Amino acid sequence: MVVDDPAFWRAGAISTIAVMSVVLIMLTIDSLAAISPGGSHVPPYTVINQHIDYKFDSNRGFDVPVISGAEPLFGKSLDEATAAALIDRGKMVIQSRACIDCHTFFGNGAYYAPDLTKAWLDPDWEGWQAVTGTDTREAAMVKFLMDPEQYRTWTRAMPNLGVSEEEAQSLVAYLKWMAAVDTNGFPPNFNQIEKRQ
Ligand code: HEC
Repeated sequence: MVVDDPAFWRAGAISTIAVMSVVLIMLTIDSLAAISPGGSHVPPYTVINQHIDYKFDSNRGFDVPVISGAEPLFGKSLDEATAAALIDRGKMVIQSRACIDCHTFFGNGAYYAPDLTKAWLDPDWEGWQAVTGTDTREAAMVKFLMDPEQYRTWTRAMPNLGVSEEEAQSLVAYLKWMAAVDTNGFPPNFNQIEKRQ
């Protein structure tokens, strides 16, 4: 009987692995095209020079980022290389302070503290401007990140992590860029999305 023949199973295993390897390579190429800056889901780093908002997309069934007119971060429009360097610096600061021990980024991390994937769009930053005595969202975020214990707004406090002003600015650049990434509706319980429904 053919099912008793080890050659039959070996041939089956080899051909399954061969076919699935090709599928995996195709999926990897497809994902890389979607997740690279400038790809279908990830805007170029210069997106931090623009206004970012969210809108419900009825075809896809969830909210998607809407990138529109000029709104340079800290009032300074950056070229692609400078914007990339600033966002990269923000990523390094995030890694140096292990923010993911408490927060979530793109689905990675913890839920001790708010999900940061769309934190740039949190409508509460407007109230924080009054509290921190600043007149822009990014300036309020810098003040908060440098001294979260002083500007505590929640039952759990974020500890002071010794973030300098330059580090805080790079963190805000990272957070703004991250908010512009099309994450297929993630996270679904995002503050602003709830308020708009
Ligand atoms: C020990 C846990 C912990 C760590 C580590 C931590 N945070 Fe937080 N973070 C919190 C808590 C708790 C809050 C809510 C505090 C509040 O609202 O007063 C918070 C709030 C925030 C907010 C406001 C979010 C919003 O939209 O309301 C931002 C932005 C933020 N953290 C960024 C960071 C960054 C960037 C790092 C790393 C440099 C970091 N946090 C590290 C616990 C932490």
